[in-house]
Amino acid sequence: MDRSRRSFVTAAAVLVPATLLAAPAPAPAKPAKEEGISPTEDLMREHGVLDRVLLIYEECGRRIETHVALPPGALGAAANLLARFIEEYHEKNEEQFVFPRVPQMAGLVKVLREQHLAGRKVTAAIERLAPTAGKDQQALEPIRQFVRMYRPHAAREDTVLFPAFHDLLGKKEIEEMGDKLEDQEHKLFGPKGFEHVVEELAGIERTLGIENLAQFTPAG
Ligand SMILES: [Fe+2]
Ligand SMILES: [Fe+2]
Repeated sequence: MDRSRRSFVTAAAVLVPATLLAAPAPAPAKPAKEEGISPTEDLMREHGVLDRVLLIYEECGRRIETHVALPPGALGAAANLLARFIEEYHEKNEEQFVFPRVPQMAGLVKVLREQHLAGRKVTAAIERLAPTAGKDQQALEPIRQFVRMYRPHAAREDTVLFPAFHDLLGKKEIEEMGDKLEDQEHKLFGPKGFEHVVEELAGIERTLGIENLAQFTPAG
């Protein structure tokens, strides 16, 4: 090798690190679906289920109040879904994983816990009164109580509790807890559990004629 060529090779070796010269092809990007979702995103999706139950409750309440026929089973099915998915699953997760992690929010957590307990009593009343709802107006009061309590309850969790909880978690813990919550959901509701719950909701909405999102857009 002549002198000029040798000096070029030496310079190249200095300028370009060996690791770059032998760099492997970049790994293909992981599909977003496989990365899972964070615990707070999971909990907020579950609030979306809660919100759709509140819409169903409001429609049932409107029909009871104005003496419009109520499809049999709609109110009872909504209360049953809420008991299974929100009270027995979502709220249990909040109580087990979220509430103990935010001692600086003891006052808020105390109210949220009390509202979980109160909500269960109100749900039991709605389930009990659902079979005769429409024939009488007794279910109206617990429906109103539930909607009135849970809109601000979930909104406070979304805007105050969950952001504080999310800030406490490191990246690793977010992943681990997200996986744990997802596994639990699959165990309790099947691998497509969330999708089935949403389908169930859509079915109840159809019986009440409130399944079409566009119907809520103001005319004009
Ligand atoms: Fe809650
Ligand atoms: Fe919640």
